[in-house]
Amino acid sequence: MASEGFCLGEHTLKVPLELHRLNRQRLCKELRSTDGVPAGAVVVLQGGEATTRYCSDAEHEFRQESFFHWAFGVLVPDCYACIEVASGRTTVFYPRLDEVYATWMGRLLTADDVRAQYGVDDVKYVDEIANVIQGMKPDVLLLLEGVNSDSKKTTRPAAFDGMSKFKTDYGLLYPVISELRVFKTPLEVEVLRYSNKISSGAHKEVMRKIRPGMKEYQLEAIFKQYSYYMGGCRHVAYTCICGSGENGAVLHYGHAGAPNDKTVRDGDMCLFDMGAEYYCYTSDITCSFPSNGKFTDKQKVIYNAVLKASRAVMDALKPGICWVDMHLLANRVTLEELKAAGILRGSVDDMMKANLGATFQPHGLGHFLGCDVHDVGGYLRGQPERRSEAGLRNLRTARTIRAGMVLTIEPGCYFIDHLLNQAESDPVLSQFLVPEMVRQYRGFGGVRIEDDVVVTQDGMECLTVVPRT
Ligand code: GLY
Repeated sequence: MASEGFCLGEHTLKVPLELHRLNRQRLCKELRSTDGVPAGAVVVLQGGEATTRYCSDAEHEFRQESFFHWAFGVLVPDCYACIEVASGRTTVFYPRLDEVYATWMGRLLTADDVRAQYGVDDVKYVDEIANVIQGMKPDVLLLLEGVNSDSKKTTRPAAFDGMSKFKTDYGLLYPVISELRVFKTPLEVEVLRYSNKISSGAHKEVMRKIRPGMKEYQLEAIFKQYSYYMGGCRHVAYTCICGSGENGAVLHYGHAGAPNDKTVRDGDMCLFDMGAEYYCYTSDITCSFPSNGKFTDKQKVIYNAVLKASRAVMDALKPGICWVDMHLLANRVTLEELKAAGILRGSVDDMMKANLGATFQPHGLGHFLGCDVHDVGGYLRGQPERRSEAGLRNLRTARTIRAGMVLTIEPGCYFIDHLLNQAESDPVLSQFLVPEMVRQYRGFGGVRIEDDVVVTQDGMECLTVVPRT
């Protein structure tokens, strides 16, 4: 019997196989009109591999490679798949497993099982791939090779025994499939909406349960427990950032060298940036609030400044707007508010010219979100190039906004000692700082307010549902 799609039970989102069929159709349609792609081209992708901890046999929990997931929704490691571009006909290649495997891992699936599970046209074993593709008489195999503009790492193009007898192309596929991933279909938006709903609920659970004296990692644990137990989200989309007090000013706090291990003090400003993923569709949400639930005047100033920046961007965001301008808008609003609070002085226009915004918000305003938390397509050929100025150079895209894009909006304001020191010793930047006030805020940490939005025909819709006021 054909599967209806992915489902972990009544309490979690059911995702139809149609999501992947539609992505493959979009891919074939685009490739058919791409210069240099012959009629008999065949796309070949290699899925993620099972890996172990270093030299041991302890397997990592598997998470599918994102391009492979986008196209096929295959859940298990060590597979390949191909798509005949002219017809869209799709074949999945499954590893041939020994009977012993059944003892350790469960019943071996038949080709019919796999075909039904993923709704593809054919299923073969990986060791048959060269012969099966030969039978398709391909003009060329389109393989996925491209550099991720965030990690600077190169994708791993498919490779298999017997490949040398085929003509191959490594350049045509990556820009096409990456561009398609920038624009989410309504079916994909539903999954992103769901992972946002679960992550939002998990953030609210953290807010309910936090008490001064708890460890930051205990709040990480509450988030993860809620996301998996309530939402079936086995993975988080990135390492949880649970910074309290001064740790809120460390943008990617929570890594192995600083593993959310501080004790939360009474009145600490907390900056919790955590996102669960469901079915390889991510979320990325940051909530900032005082650990005891009561904002001090000092905290209120910074929180309200960032909230105002966030809402200004949300009000302005629509198709045709340039993302770089949104970053600058957020900077401007934050600087205006810091000036109103007496932390800065002078003309905000002059502060913008001097790029003072990057002192308080050294990261970009936000990024694409999808199967990867920093989703692909930020700087594809033909799109605006990365800017070189501080802050702006950390934007993960400089593109013009279009309907169907899903992005984070995450303005922030941080008091980072070495950046404040640099500004204080800079003849231009220092004139805007009110030294006594800046001194009072050193050690404060930071505030980030991060929501995930989908761009509509005339504006945007916010997928994140957490208290902000
Ligand atoms: N929320 C973590 C990041 O975007 O890098």
